[in-house]
Amino acid sequence: MPRRVLGTLLFLMVCLKAGVLLLSADDRPEPAQQTPQNAAVDRSPPLPAGTVLPRTDRSDFAGPDVCRNCHRSEYIAWLHSSHGRSPMNRFETDPDSIAGMYRQLTGNTEQCRRCHAPPAEERAGRRQVEFGTSCESCHGAAGGESGWLNRHAVYGRGIVRREQETAEHRQQRIAFCEQAGMLRAERQYDVARNCYRCHIVTDARLIESGHPAEFDDFSLIPALLGQVRHNFHLDRRRNAVSPTLDASRRRQTPVMRARVYFIVEQLARIHVALSALAALPDTARVDSITGDEMRAILEDAAGQLEEFIEVLTSEPDASGRVLSAGQIRPLPEVLHVLTECDDATAADLTAAADRIRHLSRQFVQDHSGDRLGALDTAFLEDLDDPIGTALAP
Ligand code: HEC
Ligand code: HEC
Ligand code: HEC
Ligand code: HEC
Repeated sequence: MPRRVLGTLLFLMVCLKAGVLLLSADDRPEPAQQTPQNAAVDRSPPLPAGTVLPRTDRSDFAGPDVCRNCHRSEYIAWLHSSHGRSPMNRFETDPDSIAGMYRQLTGNTEQCRRCHAPPAEERAGRRQVEFGTSCESCHGAAGGESGWLNRHAVYGRGIVRREQETAEHRQQRIAFCEQAGMLRAERQYDVARNCYRCHIVTDARLIESGHPAEFDDFSLIPALLGQVRHNFHLDRRRNAVSPTLDASRRRQTPVMRARVYFIVEQLARIHVALSALAALPDTARVDSITGDEMRAILEDAAGQLEEFIEVLTSEPDASGRVLSAGQIRPLPEVLHVLTECDDATAADLTAAADRIRHLSRQFVQDHSGDRLGALDTAFLEDLDDPIGTALAP
């Protein structure tokens, strides 16, 4: 599956060249000891505890219409994607569907909402308008008194334009938003992990009802270039006030960014599968439908990671550079953690999952993608055109 993926880097290069991810890094405070090697490294503060995944309480959802005023292109793209097409409604009717089978097992379909829609909210006995998997499913619930929306686009006291915001204010604003549960694009591992919170199904009853644990043709980069495409060009007419400046602050080009996604995708799958295994009763780990599925995912993801490591440490990139094992840290350590997971207890598996998450974030901090070019040539063949479904900016 991901073999075809890196070839899409070409599309990234062509299509996103002038895009929002290429802006200058000027307004980020300079780190004390900057070297060319680490110039692109993320210097933002560590993610506060408790904000690993976005908040998902329905009462905290502001709804996509709120975002639309400032993020028109993203809104239109979302509206045309599977995520935007409010898929819950149709589940209520077909008795032979996954929903029907699941209802037989459990009595209701409320569980489907975890991924297919925000949690239901009854208002005076009536269901609220559904909006499917929305902006806030991916970026964190934004509304409410303490929600991140309150400070998301406020650049100082009084009337301060975005261009006038001080570095200090920006830092505080971003810290506030993250603490309030915003999942920002800069956190590439957590972004990928959040996709797989839904895109890997771990509930045995769901899988037994016919819901795939993982859809075969799903992978991150085609999705991010296709239906979920977001990084539109700077265009003030279309995207009135909100071209994004973040990735640029890390001096990360779209290609570098895609390489990082390519790797963290497998790290995210590993984390989800390990956590799911840890949550199973001891006997079910080796002998249950979820156990089987999760071990298959682990094996597949670890295999791919091994391949990446092999390529990065043996194949030269465009400038003839081959990386040492030390330079791709902490990927080998991830594999090492996995070797210790056979027959592990729930507590061990939980600890291993935590460790993987830690190492994965470390990877994103240490790697902007500039040195991972060997992946491009090794995985360049056999592509589809994932741009097909994307809206032109
Ligand atoms: C009042 C205008 C406004 C509204 C409303 C708004 N945004 Fe933004 N948003 C911006 C601007 C301007 C930026 C540009 C980034 C910056 O300068 O911080 C931005 C950046 C972003 C970013 C990327 C920046 C980052 O920190 O990762 C995300 C994600 C985002 N908005 C999501 C949303 C979502 C989801 C909603 C609705 C819940 C929303 N925004 C509502 C103006 C707005
Ligand atoms: C853990 C998250 C999760 C849960 C819970 C979940 N789904 Fe899904 N479901 C997904 C994802 C992700 C896809 C799409 C995957 C893809 O196409 O790559 C999907 C796809 C589907 C599809 C096929 C897509 C289509 O448009 O025809 C159906 C039908 C479906 N789900 C029904 C249900 C029903 C019914 C429930 C509850 C009983 C449910 N799902 C619960 C994540 C979930
Ligand atoms: C809150 C749960 C949730 C999250 C988070 C989520 N998805 Fe989905 N996604 C779904 C569901 C549910 C569907 C199936 C919708 C349908 O067709 O009914 C889906 C469908 C898709 C599809 C369409 C698949 C197809 O074959 O048509 C793509 C592409 C996709 N998601 C990509 C992503 C990416 C990339 C991310 C992370 C950036 C992500 N999703 C995060 C729940 C989620
Ligand atoms: C399926 C998950 C998903 C949904 C739904 C989603 N986003 Fe995003 N969003 C992402 C991802 C992933 C990125 C980072 C893209 C990248 O790294 O190239 C992102 C980046 C952004 C950015 C900053 C990047 C840019 O170039 O503009 C903004 C702004 C944004 N999203 C707003 C929104 C708004 C508004 C909505 C709803 C209309 C929305 N998003 C719905 C996953 C999602």
